[in-house]
Amino acid sequence: MAKTLSILVLVLFVLTGCDQPTESSAKNNKTSAVPAPAKVADKPIEIDPALASLGKVLYKQNCIFCHQADAIGKAGFAPSLTNHEFLSVASNKFILSTIRDGRPGTGMPPFSHLGKKDIESIVAYLRSYETLPPRAAEVDAQPAAKGDIARGQASFNLICLSCHGPNGDGYAAGGTGTAIGKAGFLDKVSDGFIRTTIKEGRTNTRMLGFGKEGPRIMAALSDQEIDDIIVYLRTVPSK
Ligand code: HEC
Ligand code: HEC
Repeated sequence: MAKTLSILVLVLFVLTGCDQPTESSAKNNKTSAVPAPAKVADKPIEIDPALASLGKVLYKQNCIFCHQADAIGKAGFAPSLTNHEFLSVASNKFILSTIRDGRPGTGMPPFSHLGKKDIESIVAYLRSYETLPPRAAEVDAQPAAKGDIARGQASFNLICLSCHGPNGDGYAAGGTGTAIGKAGFLDKVSDGFIRTTIKEGRTNTRMLGFGKEGPRIMAALSDQEIDDIIVYLRTVPSK
């Protein structure tokens, strides 16, 4: 009796033991079939702050020409990478993959030749300028935008186009804002990142906050109006 029971337990153990990997590999297959961009809130990538001094050297060699000393950027040429709101809202994954892949169709070249460690060092250097609490996990976990494409397009053309160019083509269209309508940006970014940036803006850049709590210089958009713009942007990506 005791023997049958232990065999039964063993059989059950083997069965459940077999079950689990099949289940999780099925899950893995499912997620890897979809090219998962930064939209999905997943495990954050940790970066060792001790890499910052190497990163500073690499930054000077590779990035300073466009992004300027202290990575403060230059309007219409390259954005600030040490802006406090940017660093607070951007995940390591977003920054790392943007550096690796660049942004096709813009002035931001890919740096995949540097390799993982050097790119991580540059991010550690940029992170050394961080002053606001990190919010990327919370921001990326926000719900997807729901709204009206036509209304979003109308708001975009009225408010955003003057800096970000028609269809969000960015500097190439003579704007001072980046190419937020291009796939190189949209494929890597969550709706929460776009939403928070529109609401709160980026201090000391021309990107103002356009939310109800913002400076209300050009517009005070409601949450729904902001989501309309995001929904519209998601329909325009071009290379
Ligand atoms: C030849 C000029 C140039 C060089 C060199 C360059 N960048 Fe850029 N970078 C740009 C431009 C232009 C953009 C904005 C592209 C757009 O319109 O979306 C950009 C955007 C970025 C962004 C996205 C910032 C945001 O606000 O979302 C990151 C991150 C970035 N660059 C990091 C780097 C790093 C790190 C280096 C050096 C390894 C580097 N770049 C070198 C021109 C450059
Ligand atoms: C007065 C000019 C101006 C206006 C108007 C403006 N922006 Fe911007 N925006 C910028 C600049 C400049 C940046 C990049 C900041 C920098 O250069 O460091 C930016 C950055 C952004 C970013 C982050 C892009 C990235 O590459 O990480 C988003 C998203 C964005 N703006 C959305 C909008 C939307 C949506 C509107 C309209 C509601 C808008 N902006 C209106 C100038 C503007």
